[in-house]
Amino acid sequence: MKKIIVTGGLGYIGSHTVVELMSAGYEPVIVDDLSNSSIKILKQLQKITGKTPAFHQLDLSSPDQVAKLLLLEKSISGIIHFAAFKAVGESVGRPLKYYKNNFYSLINLLDQLGAEVPFVFSSSCTVYGEPDSLPVSESAIVKQAESPYGNTKQVAEEILKDLVAAEPERKVIALRYFNPVGAHHTALIGELPIGVPQNLVPFITQTAIGKREQLTVFGNDYHTKDGSCIRDYIHVVDLAKAHVAAIQYMELPDFNGYDVFNIGTGKGYTVLEVINTFEEVNNLILNYQIGPRRNGDIERIWGNVDKSSKLMAWEAELQLETMLSSSWQWEKYMKDNF
Ligand code: NAD
Ligand code: WQD
Repeated sequence: MKKIIVTGGLGYIGSHTVVELMSAGYEPVIVDDLSNSSIKILKQLQKITGKTPAFHQLDLSSPDQVAKLLLLEKSISGIIHFAAFKAVGESVGRPLKYYKNNFYSLINLLDQLGAEVPFVFSSSCTVYGEPDSLPVSESAIVKQAESPYGNTKQVAEEILKDLVAAEPERKVIALRYFNPVGAHHTALIGELPIGVPQNLVPFITQTAIGKREQLTVFGNDYHTKDGSCIRDYIHVVDLAKAHVAAIQYMELPDFNGYDVFNIGTGKGYTVLEVINTFEEVNNLILNYQIGPRRNGDIERIWGNVDKSSKLMAWEAELQLETMLSSSWQWEKYMKDNF
């Protein structure tokens, strides 16, 4: 079985990717330092797949710990690098925390892994800022990042490009995720936000379950059909499958070099549409109010996903309704189990 290292594999997107790798016949090996995840997720993965994946608790920002990992794990067929800090707001107040973790981890891995190991990097649609035209495609201009977090994604893409230019035998794909939401259909894994969630869907589910009193919609005076911002929400299971597709694409004999793909649905929904759909599919009334705009928010973004479909034969399948019902099932499961 082909062994794939999944850094950050106990996190939100990583854990779902571990499940999809297993069902596609790969052997995922999880590396995580538990800085933003729970060891309980390993047990949950066992419940879903019937197997316990190999796990190393290591901090990848330490070169020694990366060396230790590569001593323990030989014959690696690929690596999917999720491990990073991701809280946009926190990154503004603590930029060095973000630059150290996100860059050191990336550089340590690239430096110590053999050039022949295919590498998938978690990038983000945040690199587009407010796009000039929609849907935004991979060839659009990358804008000045709004936050140190966003900057780590932009600069990481540059690092990968420079490395492949210097070592053309490398195989590297950066996936630019749009807004990942939802949870596994078993409700055994999902997003585990620490503290007050900054993202829309976990805030919605926490409000619905009574952990937060009220959701605030950040602005209803944007130039959109109902005045609230538009995003391209993608189900985390579809997103996980995109990583399997990227690994398989790099296995093709004629792939080499560096490429970048948008991973979204190609459809945009407003914040108010998300709230209404959440209420409808879960038969709930959500306590929300309209508030002022949030600093740094972009008005509208959704992706052009033709390239992923054409080259990697990957397309999102799950609809907003499924994203929002699975998020709610997971919130209820978490209440009793985490
Ligand atoms: P997450 O925080 O749930 O998962 C990241 C995991 O990496 C966590 O389990 C954490 O403990 C681990 N980790 C962090 N630093 C580490 C280190 N130095 N060594 C070992 N493990 C470490 O985040 P996620 O939502 O699953 O995001 C995964 C990746 O996707 C990140 O790179 C993130 O920036 C990127 N991304 C996320 C989103 C999103 O909205 N969730 C959107 C675009 C891109
Ligand atoms: C979605 C919409 C908010 C919370 C962030 C990061 C980005 C990427 C994805 C990693 C926006 C509105 C939200 C609330 C609200 N992550 N909202 N009330 O802003 O698209 O992107 O996550 O790479 O880098 O910046 O996602 O979920 O925060 O917001 O009205 O309490 O919901 O204004 O329009 P965003 P989000």
